[in-house]
Amino acid sequence: MKSVELEAQLLAQVDLDRLPRHIAVIMDGNGRWAKRRRLPRIAGHRAGIRAVRQAVEACARLGVPYLTLYAFSVENWKRPHTEIKLLMGLLREYLKKEIAELNKQNIRLGVIGRISELPKPVQADLENALERTAQNTGLRLTLALNYGARAELLDAVRDLVTHAKQNGALAIDEAALREHLYTRDLPDPDLLIRTSGELRLSNFLLWQVAYSEIWVTETLWPDFTQQDLIQAIIDYQKRERRYGGLGLG
Ligand code: IPE
Ligand code: IPE
Ligand code: MG
Repeated sequence: MKSVELEAQLLAQVDLDRLPRHIAVIMDGNGRWAKRRRLPRIAGHRAGIRAVRQAVEACARLGVPYLTLYAFSVENWKRPHTEIKLLMGLLREYLKKEIAELNKQNIRLGVIGRISELPKPVQADLENALERTAQNTGLRLTLALNYGARAELLDAVRDLVTHAKQNGALAIDEAALREHLYTRDLPDPDLLIRTSGELRLSNFLLWQVAYSEIWVTETLWPDFTQQDLIQAIIDYQKRERRYGGLGLG
């Protein structure tokens, strides 16, 4: 079947009234993709950008309001210096090249993570991209950069305590903690996608995915297409979410 036909067939199976509000993605497998082709790891990261465009465009087209992509974890600093440098370079290239396209698709960019620890030029490009897409009202695309869920929770608790000291009152409940997470403006993910088959969270959004539906594919991130994203949504819509209750029976 041609890919246009396949896509039409998949789209027909999506219930547009029950789309996930927020999709979060652990984009994994760039290194393995490159290795299979006997290419350097960075070639996999470069190819991964095409998949980012696919996921972003699919969400924008369908009308999914929030998409969050795990692009660099606090643990990824353990990688060789050259790979990190090239990754930061690719990110800067993406930010510069993509702003026009993001604006065309009415996409607003956001970031979560310890952004102040990123190299200064990266921070400057990020600020510029955030500013230039700030007026957009469509898809909210969030990049998790130098992100770690444990770091986020620690930062939130520190913030909460500082706040409490200033106000002379310390309220610790779910709502208060949530207000201090990097994701305070985002709903919890309904659907969490991980590519390349690994069955772990790798320190991603630990608080927020408490009741997310998890969808794992063997497909390596650079091979991920709009069709894969649509398939994930179709499978998500077949799940019964119970939140600890008895569900619909
Ligand atoms: C994911 O691909 C991208 C980042 C973590 C930046 P990997 O680089 O982790 O690829 P694998 O897991 O080694 O195949
Ligand atoms: C998770 O992938 C981080 C990102 C996708 C940015 P990793 O490749 O870093 O995770 P592990 O090491 O396999 O758990
Ligand atoms: Mg990996």
